[in-house]
Amino acid sequence: MPKKIAAGNWKMNGLVSDLTEVLEIDGAIDGLDCTTIICLPATLIYAADGDPRKRVEIGGQHCHPSPSGAHTGDVSAEMLAEAGAAYVITGHSERRADHRETDADIRAQTEAAWRAGLTAILCIGETLEQREAGRTLDVLGAQLNGSLPEGATPENAIVAYEPVWAIGTGKVASPDQVAEVHDALRAQVGPEMSLLYGGSVRANNAAELFALANVDGALVGGASLKAADFVPIVEALARS
Ligand code: PGA
Repeated sequence: MPKKIAAGNWKMNGLVSDLTEVLEIDGAIDGLDCTTIICLPATLIYAADGDPRKRVEIGGQHCHPSPSGAHTGDVSAEMLAEAGAAYVITGHSERRADHRETDADIRAQTEAAWRAGLTAILCIGETLEQREAGRTLDVLGAQLNGSLPEGATPENAIVAYEPVWAIGTGKVASPDQVAEVHDALRAQVGPEMSLLYGGSVRANNAAELFALANVDGALVGGASLKAADFVPIVEALARS
C-alpha cells in the first residue's frame, strides 16, 4: 500500500514566530496513522529542527541541482538536509512559471534531492487552457516522463498532482477529474508510490478526495499555515 501523506507547503509565508503552528500541529496529530510533512521557507528549517517535534517532518520547497557554487540566492539540497529537512518539493507550478523551470531542470533538482538523501515531492499539473483543449493526461504524462528521473522509488519520490487552475483559487478539481488523473498516474508509477492531490484542499473537501482509490494524501498550501485549518485535513486522511 502507498503511504498516506499530508504535506503542507507554506510557500513564501512564515517567520520564526509562526513555528508555534508547527508545534501545535505536532501535538494534535499524535497517534494519527499517516505521515505529516510541512515544507517551510528555507529560513525556517533550522529553527524548526531545534523544536521538540515528535511527528511532523520538515521539507524545503526548492533546491538547486548543484551541491554548492556561484548561484546567488539559491539553496542546495545538501543545505536543506543539513538544516533538518527530509523532503523537498520539486517542480511546483509556481516555480515552473515564475522561474521558467523546465522538466529537465526539475529532473536535475530531483536527482540533487536524492544525492542529499531527501525524498522529492514532485509536482505536475495542467493549466486551464490545456485542460480545456483535452490535453490533460498527455501534458501530465509528458511532465512526469520528463521530470521524474530513473531510479524513482516509493521511498525517494512522492508525486503531487496539482492542476494549476486549482492552486490558490478556491476552485478544487472535482472527484471525477482527480480520479481520472490519479488512475492514469497510478498506471505510470506503479502500485506503491504515494500520489497526492493539491489545489485548494480544505477541511470541507478533503474527505471526499481521500475517499478516491488512488489519492494517498494532499499537498496543501493556504490551509497548511494554521494548525486549526490543517489538523482537520490530517484527521480526514488518517480516517480514510
Ligand atoms: P493551495 O496551494 O492549497 O493554496 O491551493 C496548493 C499548492 O500550491 O501546493
